[in-house]
Amino acid sequence: MDAPAHENEALSHWHIWLKYKDKICPFLPDRRDLASQIEFLDLIADSMHSYMFKVRIHEQIYALKLYTIPDPGWTSSDKMSRVEDIVTSKDPFIAESRVYDCLAEYELEGQVGPKCHGWLTISREQEQALDDRFNLTNGYTSNDVGLIYELKKMDRRQWLGFRQSPENTSDPVRGLLLDYIDGAGIGKGTLNASAAASLRSQLDRLHSLDIAHGDFYPRNIMVSKDGNPYLIDFSSAKLWPCRGFQMKKRRFDGYMRDERCALEYYLFQLQKLKRHRELEISHAKSDEDAYGGEVSWFVEGFKHEFVD
Ligand SMILES: Nc1ncnc2c1ncn2[C@@H]1O[C@H](COP(=O)(O)OP(=O)(O)OP(=O)(O)O)[C@@H](O)[C@H]1O
Ligand SMILES: [Mg+2]
Repeated sequence: MDAPAHENEALSHWHIWLKYKDKICPFLPDRRDLASQIEFLDLIADSMHSYMFKVRIHEQIYALKLYTIPDPGWTSSDKMSRVEDIVTSKDPFIAESRVYDCLAEYELEGQVGPKCHGWLTISREQEQALDDRFNLTNGYTSNDVGLIYELKKMDRRQWLGFRQSPENTSDPVRGLLLDYIDGAGIGKGTLNASAAASLRSQLDRLHSLDIAHGDFYPRNIMVSKDGNPYLIDFSSAKLWPCRGFQMKKRRFDGYMRDERCALEYYLFQLQKLKRHRELEISHAKSDEDAYGGEVSWFVEGFKHEFVD
């Protein structure tokens, strides 16, 4: 029976993951066995919903993306099926897990994005140690737009450690273990013609699985120091059929086309830089030519990220 969400008090993103993981991510290895052997080396990046760590396990270096525990966010009148539908498509950990699962199913792991070795959870002790060492819980969490603006100006975080929903004390922090990319976002990277072709092919392969990246910005495309490019960050990915397109495949296809336009625009921005003078990564003559029409104001907003 489809009971209202509040009647099921054990319900959380974690519980929904446990309930559906075998069905929606059958190809993604469960590597919870590795958790106790993780040596945390560095905090690489933080954002609203994740912390990226450089870690070592058995002499091997990896990137470990740990997701914050979200506030469940549903109300007592929401139906269970609707809540589960939203969580299994929108929870950043689950969305990203589904993409890596799909890539594994089609034997594209390591060919689109970095290889993902599986999912795991960390213990409360590990979580606490990370919080202490990297000062993750710094007293700020807010949806207050004014406060966020002020904190950003001061270059401070507005979020609060792993737990945005502290009462959910029993749910563990979840993570994905990825190949470590020693590199930078494409805005600062150097691509040759075959690396540019690889990026086009990675995006095409992703799209061929009916997956839109969903967050296709320069910071989510990396280039390693030895010149290999990677799509990263599938935590906002949209896997067709999905919400938000009024179930019209044509709209979804249009969204994917916009991502391909954005990639051509980014490649053209790189082509214009001094460091790409001797390299051929785009034959476009202008921004509009690269994008294939009037450039979306949103994509254009990233222009300043491409610097020599
Ligand atoms: N496999 C990797 N190896 C090394 N560094 C990585 C790897 N994946 C991501 N990074 C770095 O960590 C940053 C954050 O990762 P990611 O984009 O996946 O997290 P996010 O929380 O979804 O970020 P945002 O929402 O800000 O885009 C990236 O911008 C990149 O600099
Ligand atoms: Mg990102």
